[in-house]
Amino acid sequence: MNELMTPGLLQSIFPDENAIPENYRLDQPVEQREYLIDGELRTWTGPLNPVLSPVFVRKEGELTQKILGSTPLLTSKESLEALDAAVRAYDLGHGMWPTLSVTERIEHVERFLKDMRSKRDEVVRLLMWEIGKTLKDSEKEFDRTCDYISDTIKAYKELDRNSAKLIEDQGFMAQIRRVPLGVSLCMGPYNYPLNETFTTLIPALIMGNTVVFKPAKYGVLLVRPLLEAFRTNFPAGVINIIYGRGRETVGALMESGKIDVFAFIGTNKGANDLKRLHPKPHRLKAILGLDAKNPAIVLPDADLNNAVAECITGSLSFNGQRCTALKILLVHKSILDEFIARFNDGVKKLRPGMPWENGVSLTPLPEPGKVEYLQGLVDDAKAHGATIVNENGGERFQTFFYPAVLCPVNEKMRLYYEEQFGPVVPIVPFEDDEEAIRYVVNSNYGQQVSIFGEDSKRVARLMDAFVNQVGRINLNTQSQRGPDTFPFNGRKDSAEGTLSVSDALRVFSIRTLVATRDNESNKQMLARIIRNRESAFLSTDYIL
Ligand code: G3H
Repeated sequence: MNELMTPGLLQSIFPDENAIPENYRLDQPVEQREYLIDGELRTWTGPLNPVLSPVFVRKEGELTQKILGSTPLLTSKESLEALDAAVRAYDLGHGMWPTLSVTERIEHVERFLKDMRSKRDEVVRLLMWEIGKTLKDSEKEFDRTCDYISDTIKAYKELDRNSAKLIEDQGFMAQIRRVPLGVSLCMGPYNYPLNETFTTLIPALIMGNTVVFKPAKYGVLLVRPLLEAFRTNFPAGVINIIYGRGRETVGALMESGKIDVFAFIGTNKGANDLKRLHPKPHRLKAILGLDAKNPAIVLPDADLNNAVAECITGSLSFNGQRCTALKILLVHKSILDEFIARFNDGVKKLRPGMPWENGVSLTPLPEPGKVEYLQGLVDDAKAHGATIVNENGGERFQTFFYPAVLCPVNEKMRLYYEEQFGPVVPIVPFEDDEEAIRYVVNSNYGQQVSIFGEDSKRVARLMDAFVNQVGRINLNTQSQRGPDTFPFNGRKDSAEGTLSVSDALRVFSIRTLVATRDNESNKQMLARIIRNRESAFLSTDYIL
């Protein structure tokens, strides 16, 4: 019996307004009218976009979806003003920001980080209310982002130190440094609205690019507490923050042809639609984190305690709303019953509730229409022969969807191919390892795969079959992005480019070199430039 899902629990899952702990309450809706352009917090007087929480609250017995506030519905006019500000601040590479010394740019980012840390509680509270992320995970997202920024600063110092020397080869002397690319457009996803956006935004800024940043569709109000920190710690026009509908605001930016780097975490369809608007595709560098359908392959000799625990967190943490989540489980037929029994036992222990409640891991879903979409996937799988194998699987109430474990899933079902990005766990029984290999090879996605097993020969064979298919192969562990120093990428429709603390600095820059023939007069001139500090680029200064 599922003790955490008592009868009628879902109907009473949403809290009475007065029962919400005081420090997590959001009493007044936030009517945001500010947006940041050219170092100025402007006030929008036009229409606003309402921001609804996935959380419903009871007031005098009546259940209503919590209204969190509203954000500006800017038009292409304002987004082009933001772009103009970024273009001016870059000034074809001659602007103050792209030519500032590395030390000074780092100082700006350090000051920003200090101010950002002081906004932790506000941002964490909004993360919970806007996207339903648990308190623990919201705090983790905030802290991980701060760590990412300080690691980026360290990595940038290291990069600069390694360039602080002249190299000699084949009669040439040269100094090679990384320089910015231009104007970047940064857009993040709703599931990591802070972390994933900042893992492109901060490297873009620190390398000397100027930025137009459009927050994610949901998880948008949580940027507001940071607006002032952005405004005060960066020169005018270096970072511009716009709000509104994607097609209207971002579409106009891409059509202008003035975006040099497009950093986007979202769907491959969204990325394709935007990329093709740029009139000079060869001038646009893209760094994209897109869809994924990461499989777990559970072999007969897998340590089931470990495999089950990893597959549960892999498929259901943050309700399965992670691009790196395990989205399909391929389980060997010989252990299928045992795996399902243990998996379901584990799912039963996941506590449904509100994000701020202790020990909660299943929470309401922020995307409008998501529970209906998941229901559609479940209905389709059932119509093609799968059944829900866990107790209470697929029960729903308003924005809440209790995890549904489905088996046997096969190639006739949408769930076999489609990225569900939610709490539905498809299980595909297999007999021959070739079936698992074929699944990965034929998939449109290529982010990660997890293999669970102990037989080294068998694991190695699968591993080698996947090295040219996906960006990361996980052995006896769930798929994930971290640690942030590891490369994070994907093949096929899953990504373009590679991110990590150090890779992101490379993505937002290009190597430029000054080279000369290694003769006496050139040597003397280089020595004079360096000794008299006549150039900002050609220098052997070593940042401590
Ligand atoms: O949604 C994609 C995130 O980058 C996943 O990061 O694996 O650390 O949850 P994570």
